[in-house]
Amino acid sequence: METDRLELCKEAELEEGCPIRIEIEGHPPLAVVRFEDSIYVVDDTCSHGEASLSEGTVEDGQIECPWHAGRFCLKTGAALAFPAVVPIRAYPVTVRDGTVYINPGPEHEQQSS
Ligand code: FES
Repeated sequence: METDRLELCKEAELEEGCPIRIEIEGHPPLAVVRFEDSIYVVDDTCSHGEASLSEGTVEDGQIECPWHAGRFCLKTGAALAFPAVVPIRAYPVTVRDGTVYINPGPEHEQQSS
């Protein structure tokens, strides 16, 4: 039995470039995004404020915050545009039998310095 794997949603629920917000008890909210046939999962809460990134827009592999247009890399969570300067977490994604999972292991935590 695999542990630490969290089921998020069905792959079929994800439309290209349309993030969805997933809330799982005990974890920060997550944004799940299909972009160019890959699926990405990042923290949904912007590191600059409390905006929900799943309400933002997706372009060029980045998700843009709906509040102040900070941008983050979907792949790494890196902050790419001011005023976002602190990265968010990006999670390794597994798709199995049409279901999207992440493993929120601590090795993928990103720290602000
Ligand atoms: S809350 Fe996201 S850039 Fe300000």
